[in-house]
Amino acid sequence: LKRDSKYSQITPEHVRFFQELLGSGSAVIDGLSTDATDDIEPFNSDWMRKYRGHSKVVLKPGSTEEVSKILKYCNNNMLAVVPQGGNTGLVGGSVPVFDEIVINLQRMTNIRSFDEVSGILVADAGVVLEIADNFLAEKNHIFPLDLGAKGSCQIGGNVATNAGGLRLLRYGSLHGNVLGIEAVLPDGTIVDDLIKLRKNNTGYDIKQLFIGGEGTIGIITAISILCPQRSSALNVAYFGLESYEKCQQAFREAKSQLSEILSAFELMDGRSQKLLNRATGRKLPLEGEHPFYCLIETSGSNSDHDSEKLTNFLEHVMESEIVSDGVLAQDQTQIRDLWSCREGIPECLGHWGGVYKYDLSIPISSMYEIVNDVRDRMTEAGLIGDDDAHPVVDVVGYGHMGDSNVHLNIPVRRYDKKVEKALEPFVYEWVQGKYGSISAEHGLGIQKKPYIGYSRSDTMIKLMKQIKDLYDPNGIMNPYKYL
Ligand code: FAD
Ligand code: MLT
Ligand code: ZN
Repeated sequence: LKRDSKYSQITPEHVRFFQELLGSGSAVIDGLSTDATDDIEPFNSDWMRKYRGHSKVVLKPGSTEEVSKILKYCNNNMLAVVPQGGNTGLVGGSVPVFDEIVINLQRMTNIRSFDEVSGILVADAGVVLEIADNFLAEKNHIFPLDLGAKGSCQIGGNVATNAGGLRLLRYGSLHGNVLGIEAVLPDGTIVDDLIKLRKNNTGYDIKQLFIGGEGTIGIITAISILCPQRSSALNVAYFGLESYEKCQQAFREAKSQLSEILSAFELMDGRSQKLLNRATGRKLPLEGEHPFYCLIETSGSNSDHDSEKLTNFLEHVMESEIVSDGVLAQDQTQIRDLWSCREGIPECLGHWGGVYKYDLSIPISSMYEIVNDVRDRMTEAGLIGDDDAHPVVDVVGYGHMGDSNVHLNIPVRRYDKKVEKALEPFVYEWVQGKYGSISAEHGLGIQKKPYIGYSRSDTMIKLMKQIKDLYDPNGIMNPYKYL
C-alpha cells in the first residue's frame, strides 16, 4: 500500500490554522510545533498493536461547529482525516495508515437530553459507553448495547461501527435503536437529523448510512437513541457442555423456557477458557474441564419469577444431560465474575504477543466447524505448538451464539506472514461457502477492505462506491479502508 499523492502533506501553516481554531490543549502536534501537549503514539496505534500510522496531528474538537470548520478546511486543502473515538476498534479502522490527521471526539462528552417517559437519550458522540450507561442507570434505563470495551469506547464509535455486543439478542441492532444522528460531512455541512421519534417514514433513512459507515462519509457528532427500561432482576448462569451439538440444544431450550427474559446467550470454547486461566491466573467457575461453556443472562422485572424460571431451566438441561455442569450467580459480585470469564477473553488473547481475529456470521449449525478446520490447518502447516519455535499458541472460538456470530481467534507469539498466508483467504473462502459474513459486527476497516467481495456482490459494492463518492468526492474521509 502506498500513500496517495493526491493528499497534501501537513505544513506548519495548516497546524497554525488548527491551533488558532481549537486553542491550547485541544491538539497533539508532533514535530510541527513547539507546544506539543501530549504523546501522539496512542492515537497512532490500535488496540491490538497490529496497525500503526504516522500521523503528526491529532485534533480534539469540542463542538460540532469546530468539527465542521476542521473538515471544511481539510476538504479544501486535500488533507486526509481519520475519525477516532475510543480507539478500541478491531479492524484497524481507527488509526491512520500514513499521515492522516486524527480527529478524536474525546472532548465532546455532553449528555444533551434524556426523556424519562420515552427513554430517548440525546448525547454527544464522544460520551464513553459506560458513562452513558451509568447515567441511564440512575434513571432506571439501560443503553441498548453492551460490550467488553465499554470503559473506553465511545457511543459515536459504537454507532460508526454498528457494534453488536453482548445483548443484541435482546435489544436488537443499532440500526433499529438509533433514532437520529447529527453528523458533519467532509465539506463542513452539518447534517442535523437528531430526530427523537420512534416512527418517521418521510423519505430515505439517510442516518443508516452513518451507522456502520466507519467514518468514511462523515463524522458523527451526536446521536439520539431509544433506551429500554433497566431490568430490576438480573441473573447469570455459566455451564459446561460436552459438544457443540449440546450448545445448540441448550440455546433452543433457553429460547423456549426463558423466552422473554433471556438477554444474552454467549459461547466460549474450552480452549478460550483455558487460555484465560493461563494468561490471568484466574480460577474458572467450574471444576474439571469441558470442551464448551455457555453463559446465559436473564433480565426481567420480577426476581422471584426469573430465578424460578432459570432454576427450572438449569434442572431440566442437567437432567436431560444437555449440560454437564453449571453454576448460578448468587449475587452481584458473582454476576460480574461469571461475565468476566466471557468479557476477559479478548484481552487475554493478546497476552502472548498478538492475535489474528476473525469476526464471522455463520449459520448456527456449522458456526463452530471453522474453528476446528482452522486448527487442523495450523497443525498440518506445523505452525502451532507450545514453544517459541511455533508462532501460533492456539486456535479458539467464542462469541455471540444467540446471534450466530463466532469470533475465531488465533493468538500468536508474533505476527507472522506464514500464519497470515495460511489464514487468508482460507477463512474468507470458508465463510463464503456457507453464505456467511466475513464481518458480523467489527466492520471492514483496513483488515477486511480487500475481502468485501466474499460477502457482497459486485452490484452492492458498486452502489456503496457511488454513495462514498457522493458524500466524500475528494476521498478525504478515512482513506485506504472500507471499500
Ligand atoms: P474507534 O475504535 O475509535 O473507531 C472505530 C471506527 O469508527 C473507525 O473506523 C473510526 O474512524 C470510526 N469512528 C469512530 N468515532 C466516529 C465518529 N464519531 N464518527 C464517525 N466515525 C467514527 N465490537 C462489537 O461489535 N461487539 C463486541 O462485543 C465488541 N467487544 C469488544 C471488546 C473489546 C475488549 C474491544 C477492544 C473491542 C470490542 N469491540 C466489539 C470492537 C468495537 O468495534 C469497538 O469496541 C467499538 O464499537 C468502537 O468504538 P470506539 O469509540 O473505540 O471507536
Ligand atoms: C467480543 O465479543 O468479545 C468482541 O467482539 C471482541 C472480540 O471479538 O474479541
Ligand atoms: Zn463480539
